[in-house]
Amino acid sequence: MSTNPFYITTPIYYVNDRPHIGHAYTTILADVLARYHRLLDHPTYFLTGTDEHGQKVQQAADKAGMTPQQQADQTVVRFQELWDKLDITHDDFIRTTETRHVKVVQDILSDLYARDEIYRAEYDGWYDVSSETFVTEREAEEAGGESNPNLTRIKEANYFFRMSRYQEWLIQYIEANPSFIQPDFRRNETLGFLRKPLMDLCISRPKTRLSWGIELPFDDQFVTYVWFDALVNYISAVGYLRDEAKFNQWWPASIHLIGKDILTTHTVYWPTMLKAMGVAQPQTVFAHGWWLSGASKMSKSVGNVVNPMEMIDRYGVDAFRYFLIAEMTLGQDASFSEEAFVRRFNADLANDLGNLLSRVAKMIRKNTDGVIPAVDGDPLTGEEEASVWASVQEAVQAIHQSVDTLRLDTGLASVLAAVRATNRYLELKQPWTLAKQEDRAPLHTVLYTAAEALRVISALLFPVMPERMTALREALGVDQVEPHMQRLAQFGVLQAGAPVADPGVLFPRIKPLVSSIEQELPMSEPTPQPSTPAPAVPPVVVPGVIDYEYFAQVQLRTARVVAAERIEGTNKLLKVDVRIGDERRQLVAGIALYYTPEELLDKTVVVVTNLKPATIRGIKSEGMLLAASKGESLRLITVDGNLSTGAVVK
Ligand code: ME8
Ligand code: MG
Repeated sequence: MSTNPFYITTPIYYVNDRPHIGHAYTTILADVLARYHRLLDHPTYFLTGTDEHGQKVQQAADKAGMTPQQQADQTVVRFQELWDKLDITHDDFIRTTETRHVKVVQDILSDLYARDEIYRAEYDGWYDVSSETFVTEREAEEAGGESNPNLTRIKEANYFFRMSRYQEWLIQYIEANPSFIQPDFRRNETLGFLRKPLMDLCISRPKTRLSWGIELPFDDQFVTYVWFDALVNYISAVGYLRDEAKFNQWWPASIHLIGKDILTTHTVYWPTMLKAMGVAQPQTVFAHGWWLSGASKMSKSVGNVVNPMEMIDRYGVDAFRYFLIAEMTLGQDASFSEEAFVRRFNADLANDLGNLLSRVAKMIRKNTDGVIPAVDGDPLTGEEEASVWASVQEAVQAIHQSVDTLRLDTGLASVLAAVRATNRYLELKQPWTLAKQEDRAPLHTVLYTAAEALRVISALLFPVMPERMTALREALGVDQVEPHMQRLAQFGVLQAGAPVADPGVLFPRIKPLVSSIEQELPMSEPTPQPSTPAPAVPPVVVPGVIDYEYFAQVQLRTARVVAAERIEGTNKLLKVDVRIGDERRQLVAGIALYYTPEELLDKTVVVVTNLKPATIRGIKSEGMLLAASKGESLRLITVDGNLSTGAVVK
């Protein structure tokens, strides 16, 4: 771990709409990393802010009947309130409409224009209205040309940044600096993008088309393209061209944390802009994946956007922070569901961690006069004590590593393993039985060891759950000055005689949202086929109450029947061909007594898609149709209304 200054940034978010869980995630992750680095005594600077210019904000303002500035002023408050509520400890919040930023952008533009890095030219070509970008002939053709409503031909004068001249340099830079773009598969994505010729970047918009932006210092008929303005926030906020000492202290940034949606702007536009300015490159651009709602992308039009404020109000800030960080394997997409949230909360926090604290605090308050007990000798000479402490130290190492590799999910998993090891230690040692003994030494050793484990665990979890871990440490009577990660290897820090308070219930158990599945699963009648080992429609044994995880493993998809025919030698089975999205599959279904092949055609049905394939009467069956049956009748489960095939059923 380096002792270099640590400068971390989040994207600056558009003020066209209120924040959602995705914005909350990036910002919480940056906060957790900043807090870990502070605990490591690294000089730390954490920047976030808002992107307030451009077409998106202008359009939102038009829609709301406000000026863009009013739109920005109102929406920025939503972000600031949320960061406040989420205990975000940013050192600065930059708004791109602030003079301190606008002036720096203009100075950069003037300099680049004077040095012919920016030039004026007539553009005659395709423009994509939805992404506000110019597209090549080839791209336009691929996207449908005239028939695509987002594409339009425009002819106008504009200003261009000579980005193309840096293409070769950028490829070499990325190849020579493997940690520049992370994770690796994102670096490959950018390199793939760079295999096509790089165009010069249009960095202006004529005011006749868009007036909400930073005016070009050399032509008042134009404003600056929003990305050429926004990216500069990372340097304008730390004093570029204004405060040399401050700028040299923090730049280059250690990490630009971004979502995968803005990879190209950060790994192609930004590095070439910096190169043209003669400014050093950031050390790492890290692009994380999407938070999905179930299996689909969160989107306002679908109406599945998770509102972070509601989650916090319902479950508390720290639990929300913990869930987001523990649940997402950084780099991959993750799916958000309240069920998963409640499950993890109950398992990790209410059960494992909450129980550990309440056991230790209760035992101490009841049996050792409410103070940390004194121990004779070194408890770590005991085998079980040494083993608990070893798992705690493993967690310390894992957290250190995960802060470096940005894999906090694995670090946290290791801390939870230490929590469970300490709980097992208590079960093994039975302090409640030891308390009945004349000799107090064994009891004291156990309680002291468990309390020490909790001290370290609470320090490791502090950056993720600052409020709850402060409460935990307060109850244990540990130093309330922020814990220092470098000092966690030492055993025996807790002072004998220090009072232990009643911690109350840190994480009250939440009633599970999905605790059981109705007994009547919609499955079809088993078809007796003595000659075949795997029945076409296997009987379903419902094992009483099952966990949601169990149910969630069954993949159900909508499918359209594209062909069906009888199978020779049986009056029960049909061979059914279905289309699931763009995949075609063949199934054998025991429904011939209830449906003719003709009746089935074009029906939208529900298929279990991750069932092990079976061969029935020599015919391969890849999946199972869902049907409901009672007595003599059987009906297929179909979908109400129109939906394309391949849709997830849940
Ligand atoms: O792109 N899952 O702003 P923006 C995970 N202003 N993260 C998500 C997410 C999701 N479903 N949705 C959004 C912009 N994010 C520009 C940035 S930077 C110089 C300018 C997060 O408001 C993620 O960090 O669209 C993503 O990159 C960012 O919000 C986009 O925010
Ligand atoms: Mg966006």
